[in-house]
Amino acid sequence: MRQPVIVGNWKMHKTIRESIHFVEQLKPLIQSASCDIIVSPPFTSLSAASKATLDTQIKIGAQDLYWENSGAFTGEISPQMALEAGCRYVILGHSERRIIFGETSQSVSKKAAAAIAAGLIPIICLGEKEKERQSGKTHDVIGMQFRQSLASLTPEIVSHIILAYEPVWAIGTGMTATPQIAQEVHSYLRQLTIEMFNRSASDNVRLLYGGSVKPENISSLMVEKDIDGVLVGGASLKVESFAKIINFEIR
Ligand code: PGA
Repeated sequence: MRQPVIVGNWKMHKTIRESIHFVEQLKPLIQSASCDIIVSPPFTSLSAASKATLDTQIKIGAQDLYWENSGAFTGEISPQMALEAGCRYVILGHSERRIIFGETSQSVSKKAAAAIAAGLIPIICLGEKEKERQSGKTHDVIGMQFRQSLASLTPEIVSHIILAYEPVWAIGTGMTATPQIAQEVHSYLRQLTIEMFNRSASDNVRLLYGGSVKPENISSLMVEKDIDGVLVGGASLKVESFAKIINFEIR
């Protein structure tokens, strides 16, 4: 059985003070939740958010990192730095990193290997653009991103990581993929995992959907057999909506 996981990606939102305030408000609302909960604040808030959640089931993830341990890489942070700031997870290859900052699947692969070497669990994001879906290229794009972004990993490791399918056209647009569209791609990702790794990796890897997830659509997504959780942007910024998503019920 794969444990459900809900991830909040705060992107470039919330100062240190706001981050602490948020997790303090969230804590009492999620005590009966049965899923893994991960919050991903900006770098500056990692340490404070991690201290504020020490006695809880909330785990902290970074939104990116660089693959070297140290050196002349202005603006970057290393896996060890994220780990010492209290992170257990790291989001890699988010479409905003790919599109705005030129992240490639090759660099995601290097980052994933470095994250794992430091003891962090990567959450690797993949997803097609609207034009690519319209022209029937979804599987080609996802397949390419998958093979290249996971190139440095072994079947053993893939069993423990998290992948997030985030169609670019659904991020921040209010246009959620239907549960059927998401399930179809998730099932393709399981197939790709068998082909590139093995059956056990495919059975164990947790697959998240991301893109306009809200309290209103969480249950219909979680009911799908290959959807193990969600990566939430906008709706993770408000305590109430994020708590509702975490406390989802399958009806
Ligand atoms: P959204 O963002 O929930 O605001 O669509 C999701 C994401 O970018 O991870």
